[in-house]
This record gives sequence, C-alpha cells and structure tokens, in this order.
Amino acid sequence: MVSADEQRMHVMLSKKLLVLLILLSSVSCSLGSASLTVGFYKRTCPHAEAIVRSTVNKAISLNPGIAPALIRMHFHDCFVRGCDGSILLESTPGNPAEREHPANNPSLRGFDVIQEAKAQIESICPETVSCADILAFAARDSAYKSGAFNYAVPAGRRDGRVSISQEVTQNLPAPSFNATQLITNFARKGLSVDEMVTLSGAHSIGVSHCSSFSNRLYTPAPQDPTMDSEFSSFLKTTCPNSGGGLFDPTVVLDAFTPKRLDNKYYRGLMKQRGLLSSDQALWSSGSTRKMVVRNAKHGLNWSVKFAKAMVRMGSIDVLTGEEGEIRRQCNFVN
Ligand code: HEM
Ligand SMILES: *[C@@H]1O[C@H](CO)[C@@H](O)[C@H](O)[C@H]1NC(C)=O
Ligand SMILES: *[C@@H]1O[C@H](CO)[C@@H](O)[C@H](O)[C@H]1NC(C)=O
Repeated sequence: MVSADEQRMHVMLSKKLLVLLILLSSVSCSLGSASLTVGFYKRTCPHAEAIVRSTVNKAISLNPGIAPALIRMHFHDCFVRGCDGSILLESTPGNPAEREHPANNPSLRGFDVIQEAKAQIESICPETVSCADILAFAARDSAYKSGAFNYAVPAGRRDGRVSISQEVTQNLPAPSFNATQLITNFARKGLSVDEMVTLSGAHSIGVSHCSSFSNRLYTPAPQDPTMDSEFSSFLKTTCPNSGGGLFDPTVVLDAFTPKRLDNKYYRGLMKQRGLLSSDQALWSSGSTRKMVVRNAKHGLNWSVKFAKAMVRMGSIDVLTGEEGEIRRQCNFVN
C-alpha cells in the first residue's frame, strides 16, 4: 500500500529526524500544581533513565509492538487519576483495577517491560524511582526508538495507591467520539485542541482491534461515508460483521508507515483512511481540519509539538513531594 515515492520520502524524513535532538528547556509545567524536574534522579539514582531505555530498547527489538503499547499505557495512566502509575496496579478482591476495563484489557500490553525495568532499578536504588516516572520514561524511549526524536522528561512523580476500573469510562475518550467530544475530553485534562490533534498522531504506530471500529464498515449501510470505500472494502476482508466476540483481529492504525512514529497518520486522514471514527473526525470537523493539514505538511514541526504535548500530558494531576508513595513493585501498592 506504500508507493515508492512515499518510501523515498520516508527515508529522507527518517534521516532528518535522526539528527534531531529536541532539548525542551521549559521544565516546569502549568498543568496541575506540580513541579516536575528534568534529571530528578541525577543524584539519587543516576542510572535510572539509562536502565529504562535499555530495557525498553531490548523489549522493542524482540517485539516492535511494545513501542505503541507503552506510549498508549502512559496516556491511559495520565487520563485516569493523573500520571500516578495507577494503570499498573493489579485488581484486589472486590476492586477491579483500571487495567481490567475493556478499554485496557486485553489490548494494553507491556506491563512486564515496566516491571523488568523497575526490578533492575530497585536492585541498585531501592524505593527511590516511582513507577509513574518509569512509565513516562518508557513512553519517551518508545517514541525515540520508533520516531527517532528525543525529548527530556521532567520527573518526580509519586505512585498512587488507588486504581478503579469504573473510572476509566468517564475519563478516557472513546473511539466513537466526534471532534467536539474529543476537544471537551482533552480540555478537561488541561490540553488544548492543537495538543489533542498533535497527540492523536500517536496513532501513527500500533494496531487496533476490529471491535474498536468495525461498526464503521457496516453502518450506515453500506459503510461510514467518511471512510474511503476502497479502504473499507480492504478492512472488511479482515474484520467480520458485528465485530467483537472471541474472534477479534487487529489492523494497523496507520497503513502508510505502521511502525514509524511520524506524520503520515495525518496524510491518511486527508485520504479518508483514518481507522477509528475519532481519527477521521479530526479531518471531518472544520475546527481541527487545518491542524491536520499543518501536521501532514510539517513533519518536523509535528514531532516537536508531539514531544512538548507528551510532556504536558505527562504532568496531568501528578502526585509529588510527600504525596502517594514509591512503590516497591509496580503492580502492587506497598
Ligand atoms: C484522541 C482520542 C483517542 C482515542 C479515542 C483513542 C482510542 C484508541 C483505540 C480504540 C485504540 C485501539 C485499541 C484496540 O482496539 O486495540 C488505540 C490505540 C492506540 N492509541 Fe489511542 N486513542 C486516543 C488518543 C491517543 C493518545 C493521546 C495516545 C498517546 C499519546 C494514543 C496512543 C495509542 C497507541 C500508540 C495505540 C496503539 C496501541 C497498540 O498498538 O497496542 N492514543 N487508541
Ligand atoms: C458530537 O456528539 C455529541 C454527542 O453525541 C452530539 O451532541 C453533537 O451534536 C455531535 N457534534 C457534531 C458536530 O456532530
Ligand atoms: C511549529 O511549531 C510551533 C510550536 O511548537 C508553532 O508556533 C509554529 O507556528 C509551527 N510552525 C508551523 C509551520 O507549523
């Protein structure tokens, strides 16, 4: 599905991005009351970030699908109770945790990668580095490995002690959302319309289960009019009618460069090849269409904005100072 021309462009862009190092100088964030700082563990655990990076790199080399999984995990952590590592907690008797919610289970993966990094860090600096920070670093390292742009992650988050499955529904955006609903959802977390459109570019890598979009292939009959009909026919060969059930295959979110974190996703939207309804809505709506075009045209600018928006997302409702705790194991409270 990728033409020679597009492949050439992709190679050129990769080279450009490879030499790009984004140093974000603005360290403190207006989101929340918290003050996170770059290099937070420089004295207390100098190798923490390097350990996360090498653990994540190794995991992605073995399974490239880990990169999108960790970026999404950070997003799902931050939008529910803030970036406090609550997504990592396991259920306790009588309390299903966030990770059991249908938006997370079974699609969210990579928990073992975070646990592995935590175990290594814990062995050299016990009870020092939070799981919430490890996840923020891991998301950055995943973006670096799949998009080749780097950014500094302010840290100092503390881990929460509460994770409730039901809270996911009212906080995470649904794939059926239109632009207005997406804008409202992100605004409630302190993120702007442009940041919402920019962060949606994360759908430039990874996959979606058919059940998250297959309604678009069949309704309104013969299909959602905002989806390219050739694309829809192609998807129907993978996704059965009345999706869901046990048989729920996956499809790549960005058909142009499915393993590359880049701005091709926006090009897909312009060609009505957005996979989720919430993706295509960014092009359908007049309020966000211009941003889609700008991101599609200016890949370097998008990656700079993406890095900044990830940092802003990473500071939503964080616990700092004496709040929360530093978990000894990421899947259990102390
Ligand atoms: C704008 C609202 C958003 C909606 C409605 C949404 C919804 C979804 C859905 C339904 C999937 C597919 C899940 C499945 O069926 O397997 C998905 C995948 C993904 N999302 Fe989002 N998402 C949104 C924003 C974001 C943001 C802000 C990020 C990160 C910055 C993100 C990162 C990802 C990634 C990387 C995947 C692929 C996961 C994988 O391959 O395992 N999404 N999203
Ligand atoms: C978006 O969805 C909401 C809720 O279903 C609806 O009230 C609103 O009219 C929709 N907006 C647009 C522009 O379609
Ligand atoms: C590039 O991004 C910055 C924000 O980081 C923005 O102010 C500027 O207008 C953008 N330029 C283009 C050409 O989109």
